[in-house]
Amino acid sequence: MTDSAHALQRIHQLRGILKGHNYRYYVLNAPAISDAAYDVLLRELEQLEQENAQPIPVDSPTQTVGFNPNPAFASKTHALPMLSLANAFSDAEITDFMRRNQQGLLENETITYIAEPKVDGLAINMYYAFGQLVYAATRGDGVIGEDVTDNIRSVSGIPWSLAADGVDIPEHIEIRGEVYMPKASFAALNKRQQAADLKPFANPRNAAAGSLRQLDASVTAGRGLAFFAYATGLAGDVFAQSQHQMLAQLAALGFATQETGLLQSEDAILQYYQTWQAKRPSLDYEIDGMVFKVDDFQQQQQLGAVARSPRWAMAYKFPAEEVETVVEAITWQVGRTGVLTPVANMLPVLVAGVMVSRATLHNIQELARKDVRIGDRVVIRRAGDVIPEVVRTLSLQAAHRAPATPVPKLCPVCASAVAQAEGEAALRCLGGLACSAQLTERVKHFVSRDAFDIEGFGAKLAEKLVEKGQIKRLSDVFKLDFAIINTWEGMGEKKIANLKQHIQDKRKISLARFIYALGIRHVGQTTARQLAQHFGDLAALQQANVEELLGIHDVGEEVSQSLLDFFTQAYNQDELVALLALGIEVLPDDTPEPSGNHPLVGKTVVLTGSFARMKRSAAKTQLQQLGVKVASAVSQSTDVLIAGEKAGSKRKKALDLGIDIVDEAQLLLWLQSDVA
Ligand code: IVH
Repeated sequence: MTDSAHALQRIHQLRGILKGHNYRYYVLNAPAISDAAYDVLLRELEQLEQENAQPIPVDSPTQTVGFNPNPAFASKTHALPMLSLANAFSDAEITDFMRRNQQGLLENETITYIAEPKVDGLAINMYYAFGQLVYAATRGDGVIGEDVTDNIRSVSGIPWSLAADGVDIPEHIEIRGEVYMPKASFAALNKRQQAADLKPFANPRNAAAGSLRQLDASVTAGRGLAFFAYATGLAGDVFAQSQHQMLAQLAALGFATQETGLLQSEDAILQYYQTWQAKRPSLDYEIDGMVFKVDDFQQQQQLGAVARSPRWAMAYKFPAEEVETVVEAITWQVGRTGVLTPVANMLPVLVAGVMVSRATLHNIQELARKDVRIGDRVVIRRAGDVIPEVVRTLSLQAAHRAPATPVPKLCPVCASAVAQAEGEAALRCLGGLACSAQLTERVKHFVSRDAFDIEGFGAKLAEKLVEKGQIKRLSDVFKLDFAIINTWEGMGEKKIANLKQHIQDKRKISLARFIYALGIRHVGQTTARQLAQHFGDLAALQQANVEELLGIHDVGEEVSQSLLDFFTQAYNQDELVALLALGIEVLPDDTPEPSGNHPLVGKTVVLTGSFARMKRSAAKTQLQQLGVKVASAVSQSTDVLIAGEKAGSKRKKALDLGIDIVDEAQLLLWLQSDVA
């Protein structure tokens, strides 16, 4: 190694070590060295940085005073994209997977599979330079994630610096794995949440994600998160030839890894899956399936990847966990469009790590088919491991059972008539916005993220505003009487001022969002976007007739009828007039539609320098067609700088601002894949 290479290595090492000490001192309040010893290291780094005329990053310990965390959740581009896994739900799909792999390789080539439990947490990518942790980022969209470096330091199973006898560590390497919350940490956290009158987390995965995305790193440190490594990104191929070797190396470097198995036959694989399914409840963390990967890296490479997942790996998901309990009552919930959903209220039970006491019975047909009655023993599960549902009833001794729950004739909330449209499964309350349940749901939808997106306007507030009569129609959202709200408990000056500001901020809205916000039946985001593009302004949409509506891609009878119904109702017409009179400005959509799920959609990029393979203007047009914003100058709001040859001042500015910079090769990759 040359002197300057040595210096560079030491610089990286010192930065890593000092950042670790800063974290111990300022976040954990538990310094590991004396102030004097710290100063010696800091001075050494200062001197090396002075002597080596490379730009000093803003987050170097020499540039920060005390503990100066990275900007909260700044975006980070992964050096290599983070792929996802294809899912299998049956043995047959595993058979297919194995056959495809064999076909993709030589006929008589032996394939060894490695089996790993699929941890239910969130994927993280960590970048180490010269053995020191430089940053950690969430998976994000697979290409760009969020910087969570400070928070990752308290997660167990992650070394801050890498060193091990016999392991040749590449100068730059990405290590990947799952951050998860052990069952014990999860139970303790939810106990604390409840004691503090806060909402409990729905499951350990959500709790892990929420805990990692904390602005205050000491909050994360108190949550007991843990980590398992299962992959490498950049440079992973350098220090192992197979997945099992790589895991052994990672374990030697101090990363936590899981127990795995090496298997060849289909029988062995399916058997292994069964064994772990049986073990699942007794593990101290949640797993939701098994991952089977071709072990050999060369074979992996030959098999390659499709759109978003490698061909050589497959997640075989476990069926949802089923649990028994007793039904105590059957109630009806009224949704946004007035649909009445029967709900079983049950003795609380733990299902896949979460206390469940309510489960949907979907609609009256389902209620009749499953014949669920009060007092019945039922089997429940969490569909997709999220929404609880009743699978079946158990005790069917007719004589001892309660009578079937009658179908309501009146809305349980507003006592309006209830009707069932022909050919529809759903019962519907005819009260419209006069029904407080419907109004509340409409308000929640109106202010939600994909609609008006009013920050700080959550479900609780919507419920209270309707309950207290502050909101009687949607336009009242922009007419709130803050003096009155101010007198409510928990609504102090600061909260009111923020809410006022957030509502004020959203008086301008794109046509697509506006149409979606109205909550017209059958009009979701995609239809709203298509309508906005076709009509260009609200008046044109309001005046459209059936033929014109049916002429739009994807708009069928149902949707067009629903639109006509909506716009011909005097009540809705008045509401639109009222909203416009309140100063709501509906803007035509100027950004072209994203063509699919591209990782850059919605991001702002800047192009600079000259490109060898395509003209800059062509790159710009193609990016815009994907729904990417292409800006001309680098600023704080730039997400990525795409730099060609001879990039000058823009590149320097991006470096100063810590903005991700990628080259033409990455640009070409992005333009080829319109799916993440
Ligand atoms: S490998 C190239 N291995 O599952 C494949 N993923 O559904 C990259 N996960 O994003 C992933 N346990 O968050 C892999 N042993 C394991 C895993 C695992 C959990 C998660 C990970 C990934 C998701 C894909």
